[in-house]
Amino acid sequence: MCGIVAAVADRNIVSVLLEGLRRLEYRGYDSAGLALVTPNGLQRLRAVGRVAELEAQVSASGAAGSAGIAHTRWATHGVPCERNAHPHVSGGLAVVHNGIIENHEALRARLKQEGYEFTSDTDTEVVAHLVAAELKKTPDLFAATRAAITQLQGAYALAVLRETDPDRVIVAREGSPLLLGLSDQGNYAASDASALLQVTRRIVYLENGDCAELTRDSYRITRVDGTPVVRDETESHLSADAVELGPYRHYMQKEIFEQPVALANTLEMLGTARSIQPGLFGANTEEVLKDVRQVLIVACGTSFHAGLVARYWLEAIAGIPCSVEVASEYRYRDSVPDSNTLVVTLSQSGETADTLAALQHAKALGMTKTLCICNVPESSLVRENALRFITRAGPEIGVASTKAFTTQLASLYLLTLIFAKLRGRLAPEVEAAELQALRHLPVAVSKVLELEPQIRAWSERFAMKQDALFLGRGRHYPIALEGALKLKEISYIHAEAYPAGELKHGPLALVDKDMPVIAVAPNDALLEKLKSNLQEVRARGGELYVFADADSEMTDSEGVHVLLLPEHYGQLSALLHVIPLQLLAYHVALVRGTDVDKPRNLAKSVTVE
Ligand code: G6P
Repeated sequence: MCGIVAAVADRNIVSVLLEGLRRLEYRGYDSAGLALVTPNGLQRLRAVGRVAELEAQVSASGAAGSAGIAHTRWATHGVPCERNAHPHVSGGLAVVHNGIIENHEALRARLKQEGYEFTSDTDTEVVAHLVAAELKKTPDLFAATRAAITQLQGAYALAVLRETDPDRVIVAREGSPLLLGLSDQGNYAASDASALLQVTRRIVYLENGDCAELTRDSYRITRVDGTPVVRDETESHLSADAVELGPYRHYMQKEIFEQPVALANTLEMLGTARSIQPGLFGANTEEVLKDVRQVLIVACGTSFHAGLVARYWLEAIAGIPCSVEVASEYRYRDSVPDSNTLVVTLSQSGETADTLAALQHAKALGMTKTLCICNVPESSLVRENALRFITRAGPEIGVASTKAFTTQLASLYLLTLIFAKLRGRLAPEVEAAELQALRHLPVAVSKVLELEPQIRAWSERFAMKQDALFLGRGRHYPIALEGALKLKEISYIHAEAYPAGELKHGPLALVDKDMPVIAVAPNDALLEKLKSNLQEVRARGGELYVFADADSEMTDSEGVHVLLLPEHYGQLSALLHVIPLQLLAYHVALVRGTDVDKPRNLAKSVTVE
């Protein structure tokens, strides 16, 4: 979603702003812009489309300056067009904004009455005019910005620049991520540390309600009322190289093939031990989990699907009741809280607005036993939980999540084993075998990845279809959901997933020769039932594409295409069965020529609700 980069330094910062925006491209956006203080006043450049278009404008204009703000916009209020692209300006000042100003209509009406003219449909433009209005009462940009902020409702990360303040950038945060980057050559701000690694690793994370004033050789942070606050400086350990594409054609492809390494890194701390240490989730894990009677998992998108798989594990292996909810539903629902619930939030980014709000909601209901499983150690979510587990998938750039999903699953399996152990349900020899199975996962996943040529061949046939139906049973039903999500996200083929037992209760009506049906068919207790469901599809002329295990005794026949996965992997087979579905979606999208890494209308990190 929207990204912010701001800089004030002792040199021309245009290249820093542009490189920062490029590093944020993966979040998804539809237009980009920047504003600079130049000797001739404020210069603003904006472009619809990619950062490369903005860069072309910048080089054509020869724009240069030592203070600037820049933005990638993902449209919420107003269509993607240059007029709506940030920065928005008012009276010699410029503003970029992430988030949503919820009371923008009332503010707009008031500001119009005061004589301010609006040139965009965005909620952000009210902020520019509000700061301009406050500057009539105080000459100080920092004070005026804070006064403007007190009138805002909603979520925001903001950066403000003024042409008469060539050595100053003001920033503020409430609900949307923002951090400062410090260096001897200048000071910076961004919505994501990866944008600033090019210039510094010295990071200060702002908290909600913080505002900051940056100059080239100083910074100060206050609360909105002006009270000074001190926030710790940390060193970012993000790898700058990890976001390079390398030999791959797309980030999604790279990330699918990185899964063996991502899993190995995530599980590295297991070492060669034959028993699992609860401390993996934090030093006080046993204390927090002691009286837990149930688990509530909240998440969005692909992370939600990981939670759905985990429910099968937690109930079957650890014997603990588990419910899983979409975060945007849970946060607004009247639910029945139980303080002995472990609330587990799952998130690749750790910045998903609904997941963060769902956690706050649970805490406000008195549920303080909280655990997050997250891929970004420096994210907002990680800072707000009693227990945490960091998946070590490395930066995930493709909008469609892949390696974050499988590493979340591995982490959730560890959680299941810890619960099982604490509840006396894990015999030592079973524990050792489970850990061995986890350690073997990277090898098992590598073998599944070798199926790519066959899946590529299948994808040619899918590319012409308008719809697809995914079927699975038990813990592989969420895998079918994930397969359908991947396909629709990046190929724009309408896809639905059903538990196979539900086939006769509706979706069978859709099945004909034009509807491919993809079945996730591991060799488990439900295989024979699933085979009967597949017969029902064949009887209606539906073409079947079956992902089965090597020992499932399924073979190709008329209208039935079978691809055998090399290993039968028991409870962990969900991790293997999702891989071919990721590859299928990727190759179908390639054939259809869609923008694999940045599918239309979607964003990587959904920082607004
Ligand atoms: C967006 C992304 C998805 C992701 C979801 C949840 O929709 O496009 O890939 O699964 O957000 O994101 P999170 O970072 O919380 O896992």
